Amino acid sequence: MARLFVCAAQKDEVGREVAKALKGELKKQGLKTVLVGGEKRKVRVQTCNCLDLCKSCKKGPGAALIVYPDGVAYGNVRPRDAAEIVHEHLGEGRVVERLRPD
Ligand code: FES
Repeated sequence: MARLFVCAAQKDEVGREVAKALKGELKKQGLKTVLVGGEKRKVRVQTCNCLDLCKSCKKGPGAALIVYPDGVAYGNVRPRDAAEIVHEHLGEGRVVERLRPD
């Protein structure tokens, strides 16, 4: 199982909107299952509480998220960034550097 944990501790709904957009993109791009270390794994998106990345979450217009088992964090993610994260990170195995927290 690969998981995307999306912080939904903001005052607004952006975390939930990002999670919804990620789920939609996984389906659209046919990436609900990915290869991790040669093994097929299902991808799940879950909302969670603060990931301790607030600098790029609470104070920005976007949400923070962490991809497991990769341990890669993204910050200030907006719903419109979902397609790129799904395509680049989960599809191609490339980290989206522009969304990495400072
Ligand atoms: S409130 Fe989102 S990471 Fe802290």
